[in-house]
Amino acid sequence: RPKYRLTILPGDGIGPEISKVALDVLCCISSEEGIDFEVQEKLLGGAAIDALGTPLPDDTLEACKDSDAVLLAAIGGYQWDNNEPHLRPERGLLGLRAGMGVFANLRPAVVLPQLVDSSTLKREVAEGVDIMVVRELTGGIYFGQPKGFGKNSNGEQIGFNTEVYSVSEIDRIARVAFEIARKRRGQLCSVDKANVLEASQLWRQTMTIVAKDFPDVELTHMLVDNAAMQLIRNPKQFDTIVTNNIFGDILSDEASMLTGSIGMLPSACVKNSGPGLFEPIHGSAPDIAGQDKANPLAMILSVAMLLKYGLGEVKAAERIEKAVIQTLDNGFRTGDIMSAGKKLVGCTAIGQEVIRAIQANHLAS
Ligand code: IPM
Ligand code: MN
Repeated sequence: RPKYRLTILPGDGIGPEISKVALDVLCCISSEEGIDFEVQEKLLGGAAIDALGTPLPDDTLEACKDSDAVLLAAIGGYQWDNNEPHLRPERGLLGLRAGMGVFANLRPAVVLPQLVDSSTLKREVAEGVDIMVVRELTGGIYFGQPKGFGKNSNGEQIGFNTEVYSVSEIDRIARVAFEIARKRRGQLCSVDKANVLEASQLWRQTMTIVAKDFPDVELTHMLVDNAAMQLIRNPKQFDTIVTNNIFGDILSDEASMLTGSIGMLPSACVKNSGPGLFEPIHGSAPDIAGQDKANPLAMILSVAMLLKYGLGEVKAAERIEKAVIQTLDNGFRTGDIMSAGKKLVGCTAIGQEVIRAIQANHLAS
């Protein structure tokens, strides 16, 4: 029996309740598929600030680096919003991504036929959308130096950050994106702001050079403002998108809304070798925390991505994905994806439905 060591980071807000559901699903798939997991729980974000005075305790980072894969729920909340930069929950997440070196963030946005009416777009625009956003995660303006606060020549206070990319950073994310596009529909759209930013000009040049190694993939370039428009105008033109850290942050939220709810979307943060970090795209939703209202499906689908991309346990992953679809087919909905004629249930209850579906799809898969 394979045995994997996982670290789970429940974090803040709805994090603990969706983590509990995710662990139940993991426990179910473990007995169904005969895979053993040794799970340790660690503190990150606001929970770590409150308990230990830092958003990323050394012990958490070490445990993550030492695991086969890491599952993260969500971090952040109102009570830490006015903290100094180094005592903000987000710092914990950014430090974890950088510390683990997971430079490639895969964010799928798929419009499921069951949820096409939850999209704010017209059915004919949303139906059939299947996009993978590949976001560079450990470089760019999020990490570039110099950054900080200072004074300009008039003595006025300023805040500044730097968008910086090296050829090697662009080259490695390009290769991940081309490999993914190759396994999908063979179209890669690189999004940048090359009409204004030098870092984007280097991005575009490097993408074009790497493309020579992937003659089977069609590379196009698009400016980010146009991409933001095209995603709403005609999202079906996109297959795989590759972009920098900040554009990827924004465009993946936009792409997620094509699908109806950000509560449905998982993501994977990976590197060429070593443990990956798997997390839902959504945040900690402090407004509904502790009320058993959160949609745990993105977290459950993150478990599936962890199994598939992190551990190579493809069958286990596919049973979970199938069970999520079956749960939707059976009419169960959380508030964020509720529509007429469906059964409104809470976080725990929809988790139980997914578990029931996994147990029932035993023979079919
Ligand atoms: C995300 C989040 C984070 C980011 C924040 C919480 C630091 O918005 O994962 O997209 O900007 O990367
Ligand atoms: Mn974001």
